[in-house]
Amino acid sequence: MIKILVTGGRGQVGAALCQRAEKMGFAVVWYDIDDLDLADLDQINKIVMEHRPKYVINCASYSVVDLAESNPEDAYRINCDGAANLATACSNFGVTLMHLSTDYVFDGEGKLPINEMMPVNPINIFGHSKLAGEEQIRKHCEQHIILRVGWIFSSRGNNYVLRSLRQMREEKEVKAVDDQIGCPTDAYDVARVLLAMVQQIDCGIEVWGTYHYSGAEAVTWKGFAEAILAAVKQQPDIVAEKIVAVASDDWPTRAPRPTNTVMDCYKILATFGIRQRPWRAGLVKVINSLTELD
Ligand SMILES: NC(=O)c1ccc[n+]([C@@H]2O[C@H](COP(=O)([O-])OP(=O)(O)OC[C@H]3O[C@@H](n4cnc5c(N)ncnc54)[C@H](OP(=O)(O)O)[C@@H]3O)[C@@H](O)[C@H]2O)c1
Repeated sequence: MIKILVTGGRGQVGAALCQRAEKMGFAVVWYDIDDLDLADLDQINKIVMEHRPKYVINCASYSVVDLAESNPEDAYRINCDGAANLATACSNFGVTLMHLSTDYVFDGEGKLPINEMMPVNPINIFGHSKLAGEEQIRKHCEQHIILRVGWIFSSRGNNYVLRSLRQMREEKEVKAVDDQIGCPTDAYDVARVLLAMVQQIDCGIEVWGTYHYSGAEAVTWKGFAEAILAAVKQQPDIVAEKIVAVASDDWPTRAPRPTNTVMDCYKILATFGIRQRPWRAGLVKVINSLTELD
């Protein structure tokens, strides 16, 4: 039985990962900030030594993009120092580290889907802190996978689907940005991808490095909001009738956002045979789970 230790186990991806891994027969131990603060290297060493997992999967993160602008120390403490601590502990104990990063390490100025060879250039504190974390992982732990993922959604936490649903219950016209493009990604789909990678690495392939993954189909936030509305509009508590396009300039946020972070996911297909799955299917599942449909 393959033993995995999951950090950030209460987060969107962390929770999906633990659920899926248990169903698949992995031995799963998980922690979140209350029991394992990534900023504490001694604590990490102790826990890794106690459980002796074969893989650590790091789903912990400071992920509030706007708040990071006014709290850079907190963002760096978790996304950079925490990543460095985990990488050091994994290296000490010969454990493979799977780490999640973000499309926001790119500036989004290009027109083409972004592959792993393209230059990084974050434009906000969150992106800088995640990039610094990637660098720490590469420096301290040779046996690592960094998986950069796109816009995550799920039925928990703070994400665009849940925020939009709240607005759709209150407003007839819901505004959404229509000049930023990316790929929504179901947290359960990220869990599937991580575990498929673990299973293949466990067969002995050594393919350490950085990979991109997102749900299939690029869309603007407006396009995503329209898909959400289409999936819920027959529900009695939804008052929204349409999605109104706004430009980023008319929707000021504390952290600037990259314009185009559509990722090229060919490398993960060529190396692991992992194909992108359409996020629309995941969206319907999330909506159904919120309304307790199957
Ligand atoms: N969300 C997105 O749209 C998105 C997009 C691209 C990439 N990603 C990346 O994908 C990964 C998973 O994202 P997610 O949305 O699942 O994250 P999430 O829901 O925010 O979960 C992160 C978890 O880490 C915990 N945490 C915070 N500080 C910690 C610390 N010092 N030690 C241990 N745990 C700590 C959080 O606890 P609290 O909730 O109590 O703070 C939370 O449970 C992250 O690496 C993220 O950067 C996310």
